[in-house]
Amino acid sequence: MKTTSIILAAGQGTRMRSSFPKVLHPILGQPMLWYAIAASRAVTQETPVVVVGYDADRVKEALGQDALFVHQEPQLGTGHAVKQADSVLRGKTDYVLVTYGDMPLVTTETLKRLVDAQQAHDGPISVLTAVADDPRGFGRIVRDANGSVLAIVEEVQASPEQLTIHELNTGVFCFSANWLWDALEHIELSPKGEYYLTNVVEIAVSQGQSVQAIRVEDASEMIGINTRVHLAEASAMMQQRINRRWMLAGVTIQDPRSTFIEPGVAIGGDTVIAPNTHLCGETKIGQACQLGPNTVVRDSLIGDRCELFCSVVEHAVLEDDVDVGPFGHLRKGAHLASGVHMGNFGEVKNSYLGPGAKLGHFSYLGDATIGSNVNIGAGTITCNFDGARKHATEIGDDVFIGSDTMLVAPLKVGKGARTGAGAVVTKDVEEKTLVVGMPARAIRKLE
Ligand code: UD1
Ligand code: CA
Repeated sequence: MKTTSIILAAGQGTRMRSSFPKVLHPILGQPMLWYAIAASRAVTQETPVVVVGYDADRVKEALGQDALFVHQEPQLGTGHAVKQADSVLRGKTDYVLVTYGDMPLVTTETLKRLVDAQQAHDGPISVLTAVADDPRGFGRIVRDANGSVLAIVEEVQASPEQLTIHELNTGVFCFSANWLWDALEHIELSPKGEYYLTNVVEIAVSQGQSVQAIRVEDASEMIGINTRVHLAEASAMMQQRINRRWMLAGVTIQDPRSTFIEPGVAIGGDTVIAPNTHLCGETKIGQACQLGPNTVVRDSLIGDRCELFCSVVEHAVLEDDVDVGPFGHLRKGAHLASGVHMGNFGEVKNSYLGPGAKLGHFSYLGDATIGSNVNIGAGTITCNFDGARKHATEIGDDVFIGSDTMLVAPLKVGKGARTGAGAVVTKDVEEKTLVVGMPARAIRKLE
């Protein structure tokens, strides 16, 4: 049995007071719509159909590969929005799961429970409901004396008696597809001038069909985002959820409130994360690492037993037993082999540092290949840019670069060579040779 989801995301979200669509506002580095798409996909194994309207091109550009898009113009309500998917889905799916692009906290487990329940149900509709003390503008689930669902009434149209109902419509539904396409044709215009999806409940009841309500266990899953206050609340909940998952998997998080782990991150056991640490993008952290405080890692691979202290690591690879910081900056293409030590104020870009290399104090390495057990003295700089082009520096194994050496690229320094303090190296240095001065010249052969 095939289920496909329709995610409603055509609204502007006026109350966000934003120049861009509500569903693109990020939560832990991903647009909020991404979470709805990811959860739907995980449940249905199908590409979801997203209904877009306000600033549709921008939404498509941000999430293009992840979904199919249909347009709703003008936006005449949730029932009208679902109807826009008819042309792409009719005859192609057995069940339709409807969710909203502004409800990022609904979990895959909850959606699966709803879909499974509908697949086992005789009637055409299963609706996800929540019981909450604060109804927050949600539609109310109206039942008869026997407890059968009769209707969903919007807050603005509810009678005083209906307003006291605490069972709320989350907005998430699973429908039998063929029944739905037909029912959508029969929705009546609401007093507000919209075609409400919720109206299909009354249509089913009038046909003598049963509507099943499935309760969400944790009511916080249904939080919809309408304002930036809600955005902050939902972000905090997502942050807690992700942190909790990693703590239960064996990661120590000293201060979960100041630790931000994005959904694309994986972390090995016994890693300890100190406060104010941000792990972003597609990042993989090994086991028994020490991260933070005050550290940002983005789109990087970190091996086992690494220590990152007050440092920024972006698009970099660190093998095992590497330590960086305080105040190290690894930029795109930095690759530190196992056992590399990088102390204060180092910057490395597009460079490989071989096993055991040391860069203890304020240095810049760009476009360089550094062999194993090389010592880079304090203040060393690869002068890799001549004002027009970038050039490479190659340093062999066991080289000792003296403090404050300027390595003017393109340049090769042979194995076992040394440079004196303050050398400005403009010409290739042979193996096992000591060079000094400005520009550096050979003064003697080494043992
Ligand atoms: C809707 C439900 C309400 C439920 C609540 C849960 C209806 C009539 N009401 O109310 O019972 O308790 O959600 O949050 O369904 N959208 C479109 N096109 C439209 C209208 C809306 O794509 O023409 C999208 C919006 O972008 C949003 C979602 O549908 O993602 C919900 O729309 P919204 O106007 O916020 O509905 P509510 O009034 O909150
Ligand atoms: Ca809403």
